[in-house]
Amino acid sequence: MRRSILTGTGSYLPEKVLTNDDLAKIVDTSDEWIRARTGIRQRHVAADGELTSDLAIRAAERALEAAGRDASDIDMVLVATSTPDNTFPATATTVQAGLGITHGGPAFDLQAVCSGFVYALATADSFIRSGAANRVLVIGAETFSRILDWTDRGTCVLFGDGAGAVVLEAGEGRGDTSDRGILSTRIHADGRQKDLLYVDGGPSSTQTVGHLRMKGREVFRHAVVRIAEVMQEVMEETGIGPDDIALFVPHQANIRILEGTARKIGLDRNKVYITVDRHGNTSAASIPLALDEAVRKGRVGEGDLVLMEAMGGGFTWGGSLVRL
Ligand code: UT7
Repeated sequence: MRRSILTGTGSYLPEKVLTNDDLAKIVDTSDEWIRARTGIRQRHVAADGELTSDLAIRAAERALEAAGRDASDIDMVLVATSTPDNTFPATATTVQAGLGITHGGPAFDLQAVCSGFVYALATADSFIRSGAANRVLVIGAETFSRILDWTDRGTCVLFGDGAGAVVLEAGEGRGDTSDRGILSTRIHADGRQKDLLYVDGGPSSTQTVGHLRMKGREVFRHAVVRIAEVMQEVMEETGIGPDDIALFVPHQANIRILEGTARKIGLDRNKVYITVDRHGNTSAASIPLALDEAVRKGRVGEGDLVLMEAMGGGFTWGGSLVRL
């Protein structure tokens, strides 16, 4: 059975760090409130002129190096982002060119907001399992600092910029859960919830980029339910239980959501990988950023089971179980 095996990870964070105290000088907030309600201590912010594609290319180069591959080995580039360089072309095409890939393989963006990376994994997995692709670069990259309303304390304290990438390669498995690779992906959407988390601009509606708007408390309520549901779904499909999972790498929105959902499905608190304290919410970049950090720190390695999940604007949500 064809499997999509994760052979390398990489990530990149912009140099500039914005602390909670820095934010308290801009809006009516405090380090204490932000840490208590979200777990965030700081976030990284892209420099002037530093684009989503720049972050994506740096992360992709590191993932390729970790996989022992050249850019020319890659036959498809997928960038999950809600903050593309331009309305078009797709940021993925800029990344493809920036990496020096010239053989004409497909490159496209995927827009599922914070669930973008899980959606992109599911998409890449389908291409690989059908035989349409052999080596795919899956990137989550964001510059959310560019779509924040820096006068709205309810949202501007939550997000950060960054990028993470993985190389997925076709391999053969036995078809059971002892295989390396993506064992299950489940993705969902419910478009009726659009107004709870959205950007109030766009090419077709306002001809402006717009700013992020969120009804945080309601999003929180939906997130805990949906995330726990999709994790159960992935575990039921594979027959894998919380004790078999080596590491839970969730989308990093709020530490209370991460810990609440882990508790709900019976996952040990020590198995929850946390970066939200240092990265904030980097939307589609948060899972691959956290996964790369966990791999490089030796928290997980080949053969380990990793459970990922995300929920974001739309709403969209999804989960994925991978054996490294
Ligand atoms: O990645 C996509 C998914 N996104 C999420 O999952 C985010 C989900 N939501 C959340 O993480 C939380 O709802 C927030 C962190 C956004 C907010 O936390 P909360 O505990 O739900 O607070 P709240 O919105 O109910 O606000 C409580 C109070 C309010 O004041 P009053 O009305 O009680 O007087 C807010 O005005 O906190 C106030 N507040 C702040 N105070 C200081 C809101 N933002 C701030 C702030 N600093 N930055």
